[in-house]
Parts: sequence; structure tokens; C-alpha cells
Amino acid sequence: MQYLAVRGGKPLRGSIPIHGAKNSVLPLLAATLLTPERCVITGCPEISDATAATEILRHLGCTVEWRGASVIVDASQASGNAIPSELMGKMRASVTFLGAMLSRFGWGRLSAPGGCRLGVRPINYHVAALEALGVKWDGESEDWRCRWEARFGGEVTLPFPSVGATENLLLASVSVPGVVTVHNAAREPEITDLCGFLSAMGAEISGAGTADLIIRGGKPLHGAVWHVMPDRMETASYLAMAAACGGDVALTQTDPMLLIPVLDALRSAGCRIETTGKTIRLLRDRPLRAIGTVSTAPYPGFPTDAQAPLMAAMLLAEGETRLIETVFSDRFSHVPELRKFGGAIETDGNCAIVTGVRRLTAASAEATDLRGGMAAVIAALCAEGESRIYGLDLIGRGYAQWIDYLGLLGADVSLQEE
Ligand code: EPZ
Repeated sequence: MQYLAVRGGKPLRGSIPIHGAKNSVLPLLAATLLTPERCVITGCPEISDATAATEILRHLGCTVEWRGASVIVDASQASGNAIPSELMGKMRASVTFLGAMLSRFGWGRLSAPGGCRLGVRPINYHVAALEALGVKWDGESEDWRCRWEARFGGEVTLPFPSVGATENLLLASVSVPGVVTVHNAAREPEITDLCGFLSAMGAEISGAGTADLIIRGGKPLHGAVWHVMPDRMETASYLAMAAACGGDVALTQTDPMLLIPVLDALRSAGCRIETTGKTIRLLRDRPLRAIGTVSTAPYPGFPTDAQAPLMAAMLLAEGETRLIETVFSDRFSHVPELRKFGGAIETDGNCAIVTGVRRLTAASAEATDLRGGMAAVIAALCAEGESRIYGLDLIGRGYAQWIDYLGLLGADVSLQEE
């Protein structure tokens, strides 16, 4: 079995370029289904989730070609097919293919999506929202099957600003001959990125980045070229890593405006952060201090995907940090793994209290999901001795070239087989 050997205790120094955003490239690829004309998505990260999305497109009859970091999609021959569990099982984001299939084929069928274990992850918001636009669901089957006989516009209010449900509404609504208004829509930058691509294809969308979206659909969409926005979660993860290890790390090709709450948290922990254009530089040469209470929230709040990496960075911070997880019902599966290194973490419901310790010691830990896996890597990089990290595929789902990047930053790591 493969594992990453990590010899911790070294500060990190160096500069790495941030990739295109995993959580944007997935709905962007789904959106290429909406036109028979050729689309090109540039800046695609070479991660297994992006590969899985291109496999789904091929399964639906598209021709897909990777050219470096560009993905060229020709959906002119897309004929529609149920998406089988072996393709769906790889990631949760596959559910956004539903909206694209409804738009293109008038029906959708997929098996329950996979994705990391983060508590219950239903799609009831997606179902109710699309029903409001005339979509009929076949609730009997194991799979999610839906069809769209009479498409009509209307007003939809989401009970929670769900990212996936907002994406599905956007992908479906652009084919509705009328006006669809979405209230309490997700405001994440990835939604704005999708709205930008759909608009470049000829869709008429207003309110991107706000809680109220208006889509005037029904026009045929044409091909377009779109560059994926930078990955704010990859950025947050490497910043948390640099904060934890100390040193001087620069992240290029990113955007500081996408993760202000994360920058604020790390500054209050005692890091010096300089932002110039698309570069964020973090320097830490004194002990980290605890940062009080941080509560995750939908954008523009503190992002839930940065909770695990930040928790790892706080393990050695003097004092007590409380992390409250409000977005997912069970997003502390990384806590037992961080305790293996000597992290002092108490959980009570959706609250985790981290009390800084003086040192961490090497351990063997497992990635529980991609963000929890990166948190375990961060703990190992701060621990004295040689640690082992297992479940590397989970981390590879969302972090392109991550082992090379650790080497570029001066970490003492090596891939091993046992
Ligand atoms: C997206 O997941 C991201 N994934 C997640 O990133 C991210 O954590 C999440 O948004 C929140 O920002 C992708 O974009 C591929 P939600 P999504 O719908 O769309 C509940 C990562 O690490 N809910 O906003 O699935 C749900 O259970 C991943 O990159 C319902 O109850 O998130 C959760 O508690 C992890 N019913 C909350 O809402 C529904 O129908 C937020 O979910 C839909 C969601």
C-alpha cells in the first residue's frame, strides 16, 4: 500500500502557482453539454475529479480532449445516457450534471453521487427547486430519474444557499423559455465563474455573486472559451500549511479577494501576509497564537473547506481556538487523525476546541476526505519524526501536483510502498 513519508519540523520556503478551482471546473464542464458547439475550458487542474467529469461527458456522447491544462469539448453528438454508479460514485459534484442533462435532453438519470463523507448529503433542495420549474421526479427508483415535459419559468427560494442546487438551477434555467428567479442563491465565487461562462455562451443572467439570480432562458447557446478561476481552497490549504510550519511561502496565480476571512484568521494568528496582485505571501517567524472562535458559513463567510486545514495549523498555536462547523453535519472526521499526532482537540456537536500543545510527534494517519487529508499532511509537517499519510488518492481528488509542491516548498517527503 502506498503512503507518503513525511519528516516534519522544517519551515517551508518557496513559491508555487495555484491551479484552477476544482469546485468551478466541475460545473463548467457540465455546462459544455448545453451547446452543440465546441467549448474550451482553459486552466483545468489535472485532478481525478476533473478527469471523472470528462469521463461522464464522454459517456454522454461528447468528444473530450485534454491539451495540457485545456479541455476541449464537442457535445454536438451528445445523445444522453444514464450516468452509471461507477462514474457517479467518484464525486458529489456529478449531481450538477442533472441540470445540464435536463437542459440538453429533457431528462436526467444518475445514481446517488459519491463524494467525501461529510455527514448526510441529500439533494432535496435540488429536487424541490427543479420541481418548481416543472421537472417531474421518479421517486421510486434507486437512481435519481427526472424528466421535463413542460418547462416553465418561475420564482424559486432555496432554504439554504446550496452551491450545488444553485449550479443545477443555473444549468437548467438557461433552457427555460421564460424568466427564472432564484432567491437565497449561493454567492460563492464558483457560482460567479459559472454565470460568466454561461453568459459567454449567450445566456442572459443577472445577479451573479448575489443571493438573487435572474435567468432569462430559452435562447440557443453557442460555444465559448473560458478560463477557470483560481482555486481558493488550494490557496487556503497551502497558507494554513505555511502558517503551521513557519517560513516564507508565496502562492502565485491566485486571488486574495477570494479568501479574505482566511487571510484575516491567519493574520490574527500572528502571520504576516502580503498580497500583491495575484500573489499572496505568508511569513511566520514567531509562535502562532490561538484565534478565538471561527465559525464556518456560506460565502462570504469563513469557508467550510478551510476548516480542517486551519484546525491543523492551530494544533501548535498558543491558547484555545474554537472552530464551529455550520455548513456540514459531520465535518470533524479529521479530528481523530489529528489527535494521533498529539493534537489536543475536544469536540462537542458542531464545535471543536483546539488547545495548542508545545510539540507534535510523528504518527500514521489516514485521509478521511480531501480537506481532512491535507490537514493530516499539515500536522505531519509540524511533527517531530517520520510520519506516514495514507489515503493519498483522496487528497489527489482536489490538489493537483500536491506532492511535487511539498518538495518545491522544501518539505522532506517521499512516496513509499509497503
Ligand atoms: C459544494 O458542495 C462544494 N463541492 C463543497 O466542497 C463545499 O464544501 C460546499 O459546496 C459548501 O461550500 C463542490 O463544489 C464540488 P451545498 P455541495 O449544496 O454543493 C446541505 C470540497 O472539499 N444540502 O452548498 O454539495 C448539505 O448536506 C467540497 O471541495 C441539503 O441538505 O454543498 C450541506 O450540509 C466538500 N440538501 C449544506 O446543505 C441539498 O439538496 C451545503 O451543501 C443540498 C445540500
